[in-house]
Amino acid sequence: MPDNAAVSIPSAFLQELLARTDLVEVVGRHVALRKSGANYVGLCPFHAEKSPSFTVSPAKQFYHCFGCGAHGNAIDFLMAHTGAGFREAVHDLAAQLGLTVPEEERSPEQRAREAAQRRAQQTLTELLAQAARAYRAQLKASPRAIEYLKGRGLTGQIAKTYGLGYAPAQRRFLSTVFGDYQDARLVECGLVVEGDGDEARRHDRFRDRIMFPIRNVKGEVIGFGGRVLDGGEPKYLNSPETPLFHKGEELYGLYEARSAIRQAGCALVVEGYMDVVALAQLGFGHAVATLGTACTPEHVRKLLRFTDDVVFAFDGDAAGRRAAQRALAAALPWAGDTRRFRFLFLPPEHDPDSFIRTHGAEAFAAALAQATPLSRFVLEVAADGCDLATAEGRARAGRGGRMRRRCRRAAPRAGCWAAATASRASC
Ligand code: UTP
Ligand code: MN
Repeated sequence: MPDNAAVSIPSAFLQELLARTDLVEVVGRHVALRKSGANYVGLCPFHAEKSPSFTVSPAKQFYHCFGCGAHGNAIDFLMAHTGAGFREAVHDLAAQLGLTVPEEERSPEQRAREAAQRRAQQTLTELLAQAARAYRAQLKASPRAIEYLKGRGLTGQIAKTYGLGYAPAQRRFLSTVFGDYQDARLVECGLVVEGDGDEARRHDRFRDRIMFPIRNVKGEVIGFGGRVLDGGEPKYLNSPETPLFHKGEELYGLYEARSAIRQAGCALVVEGYMDVVALAQLGFGHAVATLGTACTPEHVRKLLRFTDDVVFAFDGDAAGRRAAQRALAAALPWAGDTRRFRFLFLPPEHDPDSFIRTHGAEAFAAALAQATPLSRFVLEVAADGCDLATAEGRARAGRGGRMRRRCRRAAPRAGCWAAATASRASC
């Protein structure tokens, strides 16, 4: 929901909303809390700690962390923890209480339309949640799928954290899950494929695949990625664009990674589902993946709600290099003094999953520490244009610092000029 400052929410409503909201319940959905005297305590979700200094006061309806000083009410908590905007947080809380947010500037028709839209989205969310549960149960019942995941080095614990499942091979497995297989909403949320409108030809989109639920930052399942267990094609099948799922905006694993991102102080962007879960398995829980698309400015904006430090990791091959250039373009609009973007290039034969499995967590951490800063990568990309011209230019491309100075002097050459300009928008 776009935040719209022009539409004000009456403060009387906000007061009522906060008075009726149970902060312990809201926080309790995200943080394990236990009662301690008049308050509840837990591990602070906003900084790394081993003993709980995060308290929630039911009487005051405030949370406070004695470790990092984070504090606020239910709206503040949702904004800080889920990255929601103010209006989104207010709407979330209101929906939980069955309240309608009064917004004077909207016509009754507009409000009715929005309410209907929200209800429809809620139903789709429920269908996807139900499917995710069924796929999880099927994974437990499929030795072949379990073997596959084990073969890729994953434990049951990580499968649970990421809600991994298995879609059986039947054409219409979901007809055993949902009462009405003809329900148009099953098609709308991407679970069922309509066979040219012919009811008899309807079938499940995902069959005989390992299922990766894609969650939004609230933890709701909004789509799936499904991987074949053998060499079938396509290797990954993703949910189509639906009212809930826009792949140019969503990042796989962001919901699961939120705490780790805060604790690591940075986020890692990779290309594949398996990269995310394999990295999490080996201690790098702060990884997220774009969903079979190039990284967009919208992806980067979403991540920047959680951290100012982003590392993009790419395969070392030509395709990885191209993907890195697109990520660079997506990051540039957000580059500034307080933000750091870096680019990690793995050896050509590796993706993050295979690299960390072959070389181990320490080697991966060492590679991360060597990641290329945005300013240097900008110069390298721009220098590609320069170095085609002369042998000297080609030699320069290998020497970052000297190249930068020379490029600044070589202003008339377009590529170099771009590099000099962009390097000031450093990271
Ligand atoms: P890759 O082909 O690099 O696969 O696709 P991978 O991530 O290494 O997968 P594993 O290790 O073989 O399981 C990278 C990403 O591109 C998207 C997926 O999001 C995948 O994770 N992709 C790939 C698709 O959407 N469809 C495909 O058929 C292949
Ligand atoms: Mn891989």
